[in-house]
Amino acid sequence: MSGNKVIDESKQGEALVIEKPVIPNGKKLFLESYGCAMNFSDSEIVASILKDKGYTTTANYFDADVIFVNTCAIREGAEQRVRQRLTEYKKAKKTNPDLIVGVLGCMAERLKSQFLEEEKLVDIVVGPDAYRSLPELIEVAETGQKAVNVLLSKEETYADIAPVRLGSNGVTAFISITRGCDNMCAFCVVPFTRGRERSRDPETITKEAQDLFNEGYREVTLLGQNVDSYLWTGGGLKKENITEEELKSATTFAQLLEKVALVHTDLRVRFSTSHPKDMHDDVLYTIAKHENICSYIHLPVQSGNSRILEMMNRGYSREWYLNRIDAIRRIIPEAAISMDVISGFCSETEEEHQDTLSLMETVKYDFGYMFAYSERPKTLAERTYKDDVPAEVKSRRLAEIVELQLKHSAYRTKQGVGKIHRVLVEGVSKKSKEQLFGRNSQNTVVVFPKENFKPGDYVNVLVNDCTGATLIGKAI
Ligand code: SAH
Ligand code: SF4
Ligand code: F3S
Repeated sequence: MSGNKVIDESKQGEALVIEKPVIPNGKKLFLESYGCAMNFSDSEIVASILKDKGYTTTANYFDADVIFVNTCAIREGAEQRVRQRLTEYKKAKKTNPDLIVGVLGCMAERLKSQFLEEEKLVDIVVGPDAYRSLPELIEVAETGQKAVNVLLSKEETYADIAPVRLGSNGVTAFISITRGCDNMCAFCVVPFTRGRERSRDPETITKEAQDLFNEGYREVTLLGQNVDSYLWTGGGLKKENITEEELKSATTFAQLLEKVALVHTDLRVRFSTSHPKDMHDDVLYTIAKHENICSYIHLPVQSGNSRILEMMNRGYSREWYLNRIDAIRRIIPEAAISMDVISGFCSETEEEHQDTLSLMETVKYDFGYMFAYSERPKTLAERTYKDDVPAEVKSRRLAEIVELQLKHSAYRTKQGVGKIHRVLVEGVSKKSKEQLFGRNSQNTVVVFPKENFKPGDYVNVLVNDCTGATLIGKAI
């Protein structure tokens, strides 16, 4: 996520907006993010809130007046990484005793004020729904007191805040469409760290997409823990509380996708994450109908065995999941599919692990994100099941899953050779300044000679070679 901006000439009939001037307060913020795209997107909200108060950003934490780390709690390893990082910040606090260190995001929400007891270095602890209070919390911390706000909200979507695009390539951007999650998968900490699910006003979503397009961006990714359960009913009411009549005038995810796709045919639309239990054919037909909605679906499976899926409280069986895969293949034959999977969930037998491998063999995913089960405090699994698969077994099963996925990724990538791909250029290739890189609709990276192309261009590339996960070709 870095690079240059492309100015677009097609700003049509946009009202001239004069930004209210911000008077710099002379203070510098160092902001670092861990975890999922949602966290990175939240950091852009945080940057916006503090920019309005006069803060500038710095890439060097020894220079900073305030360090904020936006944290992830999904697995124990994610939390350990944050704690290591905090010990690094100690060095900066030694040279600048007035330095304020704040922990934001999911780990802050999980640990709350306990964080202040565990990590003496930390001055501020703020959960994902409390970022509007950051300026006041900094003021409290500046008086030498500790400051905590971990209140979760049923309404907060930060819909009115224009994110400051951090480390942007000027071409691709995230847009949050829902916050929180109501699913309670047995292994997952997210419902505890991000609270109840709520949907954001579709008008503010399409406006953000239009503004991005006007600034030269050419791709947006709509973000939610379960995008398929997006539902806007005017006041953001929950599904269970609305009448049949209100439901008729509501905006579903399929309808939202279409609205965003209609912003401009040159604006690519991606989305993440789809949930197998809620992804119905209407969404697939909408994807098939609009050329600019990318043919790529991230559909986490978690396990290929129905008993484990039931224990995980995922709300679908192996058969249901495979039925959804069939629907994708039928309605969007060119679609790429990726997944998340967990090895060694509580009581998983060798046979049940084989079911995961056989499901992978059936689907042959294009990409995969693979994890060993990590027990999280307070989750349904932690309260009701024993984490009884030994660590070595979890990692051996994970290694088998990873090996199979590498094979499938290579197989899918190879199928792209000899074909023409429409690529949206994102930047200069890491390996050579003479090469550009971008992605095709299926989300596979494509590398080709630069010629006169630049980030933000759409280029038709004839692919003649590949590595395990990258297509290599030449513009035609
Ligand atoms: N909302 C998304 C997932 C968000 S978390 C969904 O429903 O699919 C991203 C991934 O992390 C999950 O899909 C899961 O595979 C993994 N994960 C979540 N909790 C985990 C845990 N306790 N141990 C190991 N992996 C976990
Ligand atoms: Fe976690 Fe399940 Fe919600 Fe995804 S859908 S965030 S895995 S509880
Ligand atoms: Fe991590 Fe929170 Fe995202 S736990 S995966 S940062 S929602």
